[in-house]
Amino acid sequence: MNLSIRPWTPADLETLRALVTGPSLAPSFDKFQGTHGLEHKLHDEILAKPGLQLAFVDGEPAGFGVPWVIPREGRSPMVMLRVGVTERFRRAGVGTALAHELLAFVRTLPLGDAAEIAGSAWTPNPAASALAAKLGFVHDRWFWLMQRPRGGAQEPVWPAGVPAGTDNEPVTPTSKVASMHDARR
Ligand SMILES: CC(C)(COP(=O)(O)OP(=O)(O)OC[C@H]1O[C@@H](n2cnc3c(N)ncnc32)[C@H](O)[C@@H]1OP(=O)(O)O)[C@@H](O)C(=O)NCCC(=O)NCCS
Repeated sequence: MNLSIRPWTPADLETLRALVTGPSLAPSFDKFQGTHGLEHKLHDEILAKPGLQLAFVDGEPAGFGVPWVIPREGRSPMVMLRVGVTERFRRAGVGTALAHELLAFVRTLPLGDAAEIAGSAWTPNPAASALAAKLGFVHDRWFWLMQRPRGGAQEPVWPAGVPAGTDNEPVTPTSKVASMHDARR
């Protein structure tokens, strides 16, 4: 197997699109999907574009690695790394090689000593955990994806005895608070 890894260039746009929208990677990179999804991600100002990497196995596109540098108020930035390898080329060291390439790129950035370097997976999976452990990362946090249907907030359901109104209506804030206390009793 001949593995080569090199930085992405704009000429690789369709190669990257084919990788990220392929059936084995699309579920892990959902923000890259849809019309212009990839373009949006490529124009994201936190993407460290010079660090974006493509991997080829025997000349065939096999995977990619993406680094983001997320500024944080009053603190050193957080670096977020993600790697994707198409199913056919997995378990052959491509993910590890891409991750090493990303880490080498990160070391060239003027981040300061306190920068947090993290990797993430869109959904928990044993392969991502194994790769992270192999690189010496430890689990730190879960991110939760929450959603609600489009179309405004739901009508509130008030407890019995609580009058609804605005502060311009005759019900004064004080009486509203009092009636909420009453309703809890
Ligand atoms: C995670 C992912 C990038 C790994 O790519 P890969 O090319 O198969 O990784 P490697 O071959 O370098 O394997 C890395 C280590 O993880 C282990 N590993 C890989 N897949 C595994 C699996 N399904 N179950 C358990 N261990 C696994 C390997 O054994 C290897 O360790 P070893 O070399 O000491 O044996 C790939 O599975 C993938 O693209 N998954 C979907 C996207 C994703 O979740 N990305 C998040 C990672 S940031």
